[in-house]
Amino acid sequence: MQVLMHPIGGCLFMWTLIIQLVLQGSGVYADDATKNCKLTFESESERKVLQRIEPLSHKNFTAETKIGEDKYSYVFQLCGDAGGVPGAGVIQVEGQKTEKKVTVIGMYNATEVIGGSDYVWLVYGNGEKYDTHCSQEQRKAILMIFCNRNLNVGQLEVVQENREREQNCFYQFKIESSAVCPALEYKLSTGSILLIIAFCLLTVYLIGGFLYQRLIMGAKGMEQFPNYAFWTEVGNLSADGCDFVCRSRDREEPPTYTGVSTEPLDEDPDERDDHLLPM
Ligand SMILES: *[C@@H]1O[C@H](CO)[C@@H](O)[C@H](O)[C@H]1NC(C)=O
Ligand SMILES: *[C@@H]1O[C@H](CO)[C@@H](O)[C@H](O)[C@H]1NC(C)=O
Repeated sequence: MQVLMHPIGGCLFMWTLIIQLVLQGSGVYADDATKNCKLTFESESERKVLQRIEPLSHKNFTAETKIGEDKYSYVFQLCGDAGGVPGAGVIQVEGQKTEKKVTVIGMYNATEVIGGSDYVWLVYGNGEKYDTHCSQEQRKAILMIFCNRNLNVGQLEVVQENREREQNCFYQFKIESSAVCPALEYKLSTGSILLIIAFCLLTVYLIGGFLYQRLIMGAKGMEQFPNYAFWTEVGNLSADGCDFVCRSRDREEPPTYTGVSTEPLDEDPDERDDHLLPM
């Protein structure tokens, strides 16, 4: 049976491809990390968008900025406690190791997501209130995740802190990741998958059967085809079936066209165009 390894190996590749596609399609790979996010407006479509950025979960992303002499660092986590602060999706850490001031920018129990073909925007609301700015509203973080095929998951970058507004201020961040890239689809329809499976099974059947008949049963010629007798029988039966169904007149009766003779023409076909040839 060693010889069977080759066709099976070829098929194995196709099978892995098929299983991968099926699993991707049904989202079996998604683990439960994004479920910890509570959507402000729960909907299935937003859940789907959230699942696209699943590869970013279970990771503290950090970034630093300097405003004058003041150093700020930020920590982001997808649907998990950023920097270990319970409920926080994004935190800001001000100052040095000795005197740290932690401010929660956004919480993941107030999540909104917006998805496009090659980006996902994640919004965390419910942050700590501003002291004086922005009508003392709650802070909010906007994370823009852009497609970059060369990066599995990139670095967190601070884009801006916009608090020069009366309302709707926000902290804006950016991450690049291949997770939000549109799939390079060699998209297979269900039909073509079935066709590949059928072809695969047929190959294994034919080659395996052929080798079995030849090497083990010692068959020769047409007999080497697996289940030769069965298939000839099937062929005969379907021919009979077709004969029965498709034929419009009885096979035994001669055709009875009126006006046209069924006899062959008397003229000898060889002599008919002899006069065209120069003698
Ligand atoms: C994130 O950082 C906090 C504080 O440093 C730590 O307790 C936690 O385990 C980290 N989480 C992950 C997933 O790395
Ligand atoms: C999120 O959690 C915080 C603190 O636990 C709570 O005050 C707030 O009401 C929660 N928000 C939502 C939308 O559940």
